[in-house]
Amino acid sequence: MTPSADGLTTKDGVRAARVLGHLALYYRPGTEEAARTLLTDLGCELIDNGPRPGEDGFASAVLDMATADHHDGVIYVAQMGDAQWALEQQVDALMATDEGRALAERVAEWPESAPHAGIVYDSLDELEAALVRLDEHTAPGGPLEGHVRVVRFRARPGLDPDVDARMAASPVFSDDDRPAFGDHIVQCFVHTDLFGSLTSARVIELDFAFPPFYERVPTFGR
Ligand SMILES: [Fe+2]
Repeated sequence: MTPSADGLTTKDGVRAARVLGHLALYYRPGTEEAARTLLTDLGCELIDNGPRPGEDGFASAVLDMATADHHDGVIYVAQMGDAQWALEQQVDALMATDEGRALAERVAEWPESAPHAGIVYDSLDELEAALVRLDEHTAPGGPLEGHVRVVRFRARPGLDPDVDARMAASPVFSDDDRPAFGDHIVQCFVHTDLFGSLTSARVIELDFAFPPFYERVPTFGR
C-alpha cells in the first residue's frame, strides 16, 4: 500500500475506500518524555502541532513521514485528563489484586489474547532497529526503564530456509524466542504502562511479514 497524491493509500493503483486512521493516546502525568521516547523508538517522527507547540504536551507521531498524508498512519499523543487519571489509578489498584495479577500474567504469556494495537513494518531491518532502540532505552537508567517491556516471537521455523537463515543472523531475535502466532511473520509485543490501562495501546504489536504472507488471506487459530 502506498499513498496516492491526494491522500489515502492505494494498492495496484486502486485507492482504498477506507483505512485505519489514527490512534489517540493519553500518557500518565509526568511521563511525556518517556511517551515521546517510546514513539520515536518505534520509528515515528513527532510533530508538535498543538495549540501551544512545546508547552501543551501534544504531538502527532507520524508513522512514515515520507508517505504521510497526516490523516491516516498517525498517533496523536497528549497527557490524560484529570478524570481519566483518577480512574486509571483505581484500575492500577485493581491490577494489584490477585485477579489483576492473573490477567497481567496471561497477557504477558499470550499477548494476542488481550486488546492491543499493531504497527506493520515494511522492512525487518527497520523493525530490528526499533528493538535495538528499545533495548537501549529500557535498560537500567534508561528513559523507559520500568515503563516498557518487549516480548519477541520469531518467524516459525521450517517453512522457508531463507527465513530461517535470516532469523539465525538477526541481532535481536534468539533461539529462546517463541515462534510467532501465524506463518511467515515475526511479532514483537511492546508492553507499556505509559498510556494507562483504559486503552488498547497497553500492548503495541510490531509486525513484519515475509513472502508469501501477502499472497493469500491468512487464517488464524488453525
Ligand atoms: Fe495481534
